[in-house]
Amino acid sequence: MEEKNSFLKEKIDLKSPNKNIVPISTSIGEDGKLSIGGCSIEELVKKYDSPLYILDEITLRNSCRAYKQALEKYYPGESLPIYASKANSSLFMSKLVSSEGLGLDAVSEGELLTALKGGVPNEKIVFHGNNKSDKEIEFAVRNNINVIVDNDYDLDRLEKLSNLSNNELEIMIRFTPGIECHTHEYIKTGSFDSKFGFGIEYLETLFSRINKTKHLKLKGLHAHIGSQIFELDPHKDLGEIMVKVILEAKKYGHNIDKLNVGGGLGIKYTENDDPPSIDEWVRTISTSVTKACKKHNLDLPILMCEPGRSIVSTAGITIYKIGAFKKIPGIRTYLSVDGGMSDNPRPITYQSNYSACLVGNPLNINSKNKYTIAGKHCESGDVLFKEIELSDCKTGDLICVFGTGAYNISMSSNYNRIPRPAALLVCDGEAEIIQKRESPSDLLKYDVLPDRFIKQS
Ligand code: LLP
Repeated sequence: MEEKNSFLKEKIDLKSPNKNIVPISTSIGEDGKLSIGGCSIEELVKKYDSPLYILDEITLRNSCRAYKQALEKYYPGESLPIYASKANSSLFMSKLVSSEGLGLDAVSEGELLTALKGGVPNEKIVFHGNNKSDKEIEFAVRNNINVIVDNDYDLDRLEKLSNLSNNELEIMIRFTPGIECHTHEYIKTGSFDSKFGFGIEYLETLFSRINKTKHLKLKGLHAHIGSQIFELDPHKDLGEIMVKVILEAKKYGHNIDKLNVGGGLGIKYTENDDPPSIDEWVRTISTSVTKACKKHNLDLPILMCEPGRSIVSTAGITIYKIGAFKKIPGIRTYLSVDGGMSDNPRPITYQSNYSACLVGNPLNINSKNKYTIAGKHCESGDVLFKEIELSDCKTGDLICVFGTGAYNISMSSNYNRIPRPAALLVCDGEAEIIQKRESPSDLLKYDVLPDRFIKQS
């Protein structure tokens, strides 16, 4: 008997879930089948159908705690980890992160509302975006949410609003530090050529511009250099650059006391990935900011960071049911599942790789077949795995894909009018729905037939 999928036998890192492929509570029962959070996946699918997103509560909480604890350990000043909700935004996620004392980063009125309704305290929410609408900016200001100014257009409107209310308004600004990091082109944000934030060369003009406003008070700086980053040096450099910008701003009379260094820590999607731990990442940033402040005799600012993927990705799995097989002699065997690019657009968008196993034979005993796992959408590129090794499997068997907690449900679509899967939370043998499954008729809810077409028979 040859067992493959050694990732399922690796020792789990409880303190830094981003270093594991599987959620912390993953186990293989006496029957040799996969379970999570003490729940048999087969039973969950019998009850809730497939495809199915599942989140593991213990993994989520451990990730939040790892950020909090590391900041308390390494940063002598005040600090706040802020969950980047674009990774996975829901009432449940808002509740969970706020129960762990984290703040939340939102980029739209929808994400803001989800945070507020989920109980995140207003003062712990930051509002980002390179093209906020008037309505969104007004909503944020009315609700005392920290607006991160991305460009002059934001500044104009905030100036107007503060003049109208005749009240002081504290702002933070986002700038591009010009740091290159090794990640997919689409998820790099800190290089000079980016749509986000002010160019670093523009900051002096910006500082004098803010000085000319009556009510705007520049209190914070923000930068985010990219996502799924495995190197530590870019974040070390970022800390130093941000402290230099604080010094520059001081020359213009601005006392910046908040530094938000963004997110970006990578996770382990496959056995080839080896991201730093949350502890190492936070230590790097904290040390870099602390040292630079000491060197320049500056008081320590409040340190904020904005992890998204490394909080939620490893906590999530997606379960699919196998349907059709197509063997092309001498070429490949396609195995099609009941989901695909509408519930996980990352493989087709970024050529992302994941790890997977059969729920009924997770260790892949006697695996000898290579399959290409295709989604069910009308698009040839809708392929979740190219050439994955699996033991014999048949129509009706279940496949578990790991690491899907981030940027899956939040980037999902209804392409081909396919309803979104349900999402469950599992913990201690209990499973609860956190997002209901859509039905095909739900998808008609926003369709409208103009009267004259109704009258036509
Ligand atoms: N803060 C800001 C301002 C961001 O733009 C982002 C991510 C984060 C924090 C969180 O970054 P994280 O810790 O998750 O790396 N859809 C892509 C990822 C896009 C990330 C966008 N910004 C993907 O699926 O890989």
